[in-house]
Amino acid sequence: MLPFDKLLPFDRTAAPAVYLQVANSMIQHIRSGVIKPGFWLPGTRELAGILGVHRKTVVAVYDELSAQGWIEAVARKGFHVTRELPEVRPGGWGKDGQRSGKGRPGREGQPGKGDWSGRQDREHAFSKEMAAPFYPVERGRFRLPVVSVPPSRLIIDDGHPDSRLAPLELLGREYRARLSNRGGRRPVYATMTAGSPRMREAMVGYLADTRGMQASVPNILITHGAQMSIYIAAQLLLRPGDTVIVGEPGYYVATQVFENLGASLLRVPVDEQGIDVDAVERLSRGRVVRMLYLIPHHHHPTTVTLSPERRMRLLEIAEEKNFSIVEDDYDYDFHYSSSPYLPLAASGHNNRVVYIGSFSKSLSSSIRVGFMVGPEAFIVEATYLRRLIELRGDNHMEDALAELIRNGDVGRHLKKVNRIYQGRRDHLCGLLDSNLGDVVDYRKPSGGMAIWARFNKRAPVKELAGKALKMGLYMSDGQAYNTHNKDYNAIRFGFASLNEVEMDEAVQILTSCL
Ligand SMILES: Cc1ncc(COP(=O)(O)O)c(C=O)c1O
Repeated sequence: MLPFDKLLPFDRTAAPAVYLQVANSMIQHIRSGVIKPGFWLPGTRELAGILGVHRKTVVAVYDELSAQGWIEAVARKGFHVTRELPEVRPGGWGKDGQRSGKGRPGREGQPGKGDWSGRQDREHAFSKEMAAPFYPVERGRFRLPVVSVPPSRLIIDDGHPDSRLAPLELLGREYRARLSNRGGRRPVYATMTAGSPRMREAMVGYLADTRGMQASVPNILITHGAQMSIYIAAQLLLRPGDTVIVGEPGYYVATQVFENLGASLLRVPVDEQGIDVDAVERLSRGRVVRMLYLIPHHHHPTTVTLSPERRMRLLEIAEEKNFSIVEDDYDYDFHYSSSPYLPLAASGHNNRVVYIGSFSKSLSSSIRVGFMVGPEAFIVEATYLRRLIELRGDNHMEDALAELIRNGDVGRHLKKVNRIYQGRRDHLCGLLDSNLGDVVDYRKPSGGMAIWARFNKRAPVKELAGKALKMGLYMSDGQAYNTHNKDYNAIRFGFASLNEVEMDEAVQILTSCL
């Protein structure tokens, strides 16, 4: 019997519930190989006795691990660790960002330099001709107009939080205090480019409590929303002609960033379990791939979540093929059937993962505070680049937000809105089934703030959007989600920002337009 009392420590006074702390420790041990695939776990009563907790707590731990696919229940026998999980090591980011094992030619052993350094010296990994078999980059080829929302009574957004529920009053109070007396007149130093020290420190605890991530202050850069992080990471990792793997369909604004940097896109299908990792492996065979852009939770636009098996396989492939992963976990906070899966960045990734998140999703779209977490050397370069774009962010807002993270307001808010958004998701599913069942196809997402609603041919989304606008309802015309070769005739139907009355009205308008 493994010494579970030592392996699964927990703190009853800490913010995450005890069952989550125990489940996360168990996951770390499964990942590290201490608890092996196929291992039979102790019964719930026995483990409860060992840990000194109520049996219901252990039942919640096993439910959580089963929901995430780490363990399997066998009738009348108990639970064992899922057998087909590949082994990966846990870990965070090294100080200098140096990778072990394979490096790029001529770059191994450079002290203190990560794989992104010295971009100027780097040979183009791909010539234009070599890039031609997949989608050649012509600047602006897929450029889409900036979406401007015309005035309308109701808006179906593509998955935004409901600002009316966010603790903006509390945030405003903290912000005002900083503007008026506490520090408002103090000079702001250039060292604040990476974010206010309070915010970066608060993020260390926040990332550990919510995501099981081991990061320190030098691993964290605060940005103006997640989009700025995507841009900076891509700018550091890519040169013209480099190959980037993206999911298809994917988040078109990120795709445009990569195209604008002159990268070649290698588009990989996304199915019900997320990006197709076998296709990633197949398509990257014999090619130099520089980076993979991943949306692990509630992929944009299709809302699917990457399964744990695929997450681990992807890390193995990244190691084999020697590419970096930009993990855009924009929607991590909203999960309704189980807790979210731990990020790839919380596993052993040999400095391959740059992790991105944003409070624009957790709280309100207008709170433009995002974050990037990566190896220290990478963050130094990212900070330098951020300074060229914007000298520093709104450090008072960052301080104010840090206070809300520290005193638990952000955690309480997320707990509250998870319940509300789950209700809204279910309400919208009911409306779609009863009112639009013959024209809309969708799968209920396990979390997030939008439903990927695919309309059939009888309801061309572009026409529908035009008609709806005349009746006071703005919705996307779906064009942004279409790719070079596919018209999805679909929208992301954001449910989080609409209450039930507003949703009823929106669906009523759509029904009458049809
Ligand atoms: C997948 C994805 N990543 C990043 C972003 C950008 O987030 P932010 O508003 O924090 O810049 C969005 C915005 O909708 C998104 O959908």
